[in-house]
Amino acid sequence: MLEVRDLHVSYGSIAAVKGLSLTVSPGEVVALVGANGAGKSSTLAAIAGVVAPASGSVELDGVALGGRTPEWIARQGISLVPEGRDVFASLTVAENLHLGTIARADRDSAAEATDRLLARFPVLDRYRDTPAGKLSGGEQQQLAIARALLSAPGILLLDEPSLGLAPKMVDLVFEVVAELREEGVGVLLVEQNALRAVAVADRSYVLRRGELVLAGTREELSQDGQLADLYLS
Ligand SMILES: Nc1ncnc2c1ncn2[C@@H]1O[C@H](COP(=O)(O)OP(=O)(O)OP(=O)(O)O)[C@@H](O)[C@H]1O
Ligand SMILES: [Mg+2]
Repeated sequence: MLEVRDLHVSYGSIAAVKGLSLTVSPGEVVALVGANGAGKSSTLAAIAGVVAPASGSVELDGVALGGRTPEWIARQGISLVPEGRDVFASLTVAENLHLGTIARADRDSAAEATDRLLARFPVLDRYRDTPAGKLSGGEQQQLAIARALLSAPGILLLDEPSLGLAPKMVDLVFEVVAELREEGVGVLLVEQNALRAVAVADRSYVLRRGELVLAGTREELSQDGQLADLYLS
């Protein structure tokens, strides 16, 4: 289980995350939503070790991740797909995918997993020998997600995976997220598309200016109406 306790993230005098606590269990999809600048990406970056928290703790199965490098944290099975394009532009699609398999504990199944993903994301199969930098933004986004999945993460941190994708591909991303739950992966999903993310997630947290303003299970949130107020008013 991923456990974040009283996390604070600051950039100089800007406090981006103020005392956030959250958990993600294996096989659980957890949504983290909030307006632009609410601190969602900062939270994921702190979990992945990309930014150092000002205070608070992050643990995976009781092991503290604080002060560790992003590479060390990735090897523990936490995979981050950051906002925007995150592919190696001069490497081909196939080479990018191969890099994703390097962190895998079980190398034997890498080829099989790659084939399965190429079937899932047909555009990547079509462009497997094309440099990733030549793909469209949405195609690069698919490649970034596929590469993260190939590392066989225990916990997957997705930062706005549907950004810039055509509606059909957005559907595919949400389908993949639901499948990961069946496979026992814990997913922390950051989405601008808040209502859809909350609908797919088992539990959700709502951030406003770095602070937690609402949290609950899908049932709780659908009943109390506050979420709709926060987003529709
Ligand atoms: N590298 C940085 N340096 C300075 N301030 C930053 C940095 N990154 C983020 N911030 C600030 O921290 C706050 C939270 O930003 P963050 O990117 O975590 O928000 P977010 O919820 O992911 O927003 P968005 O929906 O726009 O992606 C914002 O006020 C932002 O301007
Ligand atoms: Mg963000």
